[in-house]
Amino acid sequence: MASAPYRLEASWSAEGGEHGAFTFTFTNLSQAPLSGFKLAYTSLYRVIIPEACDNAVFLRRNANFHQYAPPEGLVLAPGESWRFTVSGIHRPARHCTDGAKSAYITLEDGTHADVAVSDLLLSGRVSEPPPVLLPQGKLDLPFALQPWPAKIDAVPGEGFPVVLYAAEGAELEERRAISEVTALLHRLIPSAHAPFSLVADPQGRILHLSKEEGLGTEAYRLRFEANAVHLAYGGAAGRQYGLTSLAQLLEGARARPQTFRFPTSGTIEDSPRYGWRGCHLDVSRQFFPVEDVNRLLDIMAWLKLNTFHWHLTDDEAWRLEIKAYPTLTTTGVLRGPDEPLLPQLGNGAASVGGFYAQDDVRAIVAHAAALSIEVVPEIDIPGHNAATLVALPDLVDGQEAPDSYHSVQGYPNNALNPAIEATYSFLEAVIDEMVTLFPSDYIHIGGDEVAHGAWMASPLAKALMEKEGISGTFALQSYFLKRVKAMLDQRGKKLAGWNEVAHGGGVAPENSLLMAWENPKVGIALAEEGYDVVMTPGQAYYLDMVQAEAFQEPGASWAGTVPPAHTYAYEAEGDFPETLKHRMKGVQACIWTEHFLSRGYFNRLVFPRLPAIAEAAWTPKAQKNWERFAAIVPLCPQL
Ligand code: ACM
Repeated sequence: MASAPYRLEASWSAEGGEHGAFTFTFTNLSQAPLSGFKLAYTSLYRVIIPEACDNAVFLRRNANFHQYAPPEGLVLAPGESWRFTVSGIHRPARHCTDGAKSAYITLEDGTHADVAVSDLLLSGRVSEPPPVLLPQGKLDLPFALQPWPAKIDAVPGEGFPVVLYAAEGAELEERRAISEVTALLHRLIPSAHAPFSLVADPQGRILHLSKEEGLGTEAYRLRFEANAVHLAYGGAAGRQYGLTSLAQLLEGARARPQTFRFPTSGTIEDSPRYGWRGCHLDVSRQFFPVEDVNRLLDIMAWLKLNTFHWHLTDDEAWRLEIKAYPTLTTTGVLRGPDEPLLPQLGNGAASVGGFYAQDDVRAIVAHAAALSIEVVPEIDIPGHNAATLVALPDLVDGQEAPDSYHSVQGYPNNALNPAIEATYSFLEAVIDEMVTLFPSDYIHIGGDEVAHGAWMASPLAKALMEKEGISGTFALQSYFLKRVKAMLDQRGKKLAGWNEVAHGGGVAPENSLLMAWENPKVGIALAEEGYDVVMTPGQAYYLDMVQAEAFQEPGASWAGTVPPAHTYAYEAEGDFPETLKHRMKGVQACIWTEHFLSRGYFNRLVFPRLPAIAEAAWTPKAQKNWERFAAIVPLCPQL
């Protein structure tokens, strides 16, 4: 992008419109005069009053895609700029990432050229720089463990063994586990020394492993002696977590010997606080290649997270290969200036795609399983289906007025229609293929953010409401989701969904688990209705949210400001009544990727908040300690 011969700069001022105004300056950095072009940009700060612009002509908008033409006859000589203002935006800008995420121009001959974009500048007010978010921290015990164990009573040693080696008689499965965790560390930190060996070494320390009845499958116990380490575990996951703790202790002592040590005596007794320790990744808004997904799984394993919620579909793309419906991953993934799906969220002149072939999915699921991580796939239905409906136009009610409703993200008519029988045969086929790919107990069916008023202009939906004696968008949604739940029941799968699944009558709570994302209170209300709940409130656990108020801090802000210290301290079961706590199955980080245009950006927002959620998921409340966390978290591997 940096070498594009055109650049678009934007500033936002509180003056000029109800929600302020953008001033755009487009500069021709090429060697040739420029005329007769159109400019497109993508921005989450959408224009909702098209005519509210100055020195430009509004051409069209679709969700975050906007296109303008310069005034008739404008010619930009090399080095010259065109400036225009846009004031009809739907909310005031608050951060430097609220402007244009990408741009391109379309020339008179129909070809397209990239335009470099800059961070949004703030005009008329002080633009505060981002603050320091992580203190240096303080350790009471010099051990590089994260998440911190439930119980630790260990004494730091002076030196550390070169390796821990498997005692003679270690079982094949134990040797394999040692090999797996060694490989995990090497993938995460390629420069690291191997923590374990299968061969006795005179400078190493012997490691005795034993399976112990009575320990939970995820539990383990470590006993340290000057010349030996004993690891007792309940099941394969507990064994992996015990070995991971040993690898963290050794790697910390080796990498930062002034700060961290390896224990010479004492014990660690450890098991997780919650059964569901999740991390979600939205691969629709931005595509993540298989290697990146696998690396995120590696990081999750390092942090003892056990559930990967894979958000595979959304308005912007359907990423899961479905053999029965190949257009989902041809038409349904390609975004570009001349594609049915327009550029969004950082796309420019080039078409971009990306999807997971079923062999990719099998490889990712196997990689996760080897790390004791279950993959819970999500197809987000009935809302968030703009890409699906472009790929499968037969699923649209042809009599429904276009633009009859808009999602909160600005997509028109983007929900699968509950009154079209082909919708259900489509979903049966999709779920049939999913159950062969994903061994998880749960399939996540989304259920979030269906627009108020959806389907109300569809004659087919009206006829269905009459036939069923129901009325309104959410009664229809409940009708639809009950049919989807029946499909899952028939295939022995449980339903996971976002909290709005409960709207309009919901689905049967048995074998249903809902994720409370809109706010913490929703989780308690769902538990009262009998649903199992995972807490993932945007105000604490959405990793796309800004980490500080400052204008120069990047990120989304609709759920507020989420500093790492808050994410760490937040207690998800906080106000749950004692009688409902058993319904709260755990916690989850969500990585929504509208803003995630680069690896650097990913790392800046996901860390240290992902490890903070991992510790909240694992470590008992009484053992949480922000200063200790802050001192250890710089060791956490990133993407
Ligand atoms: C969501 O954030 N729409 C689940």
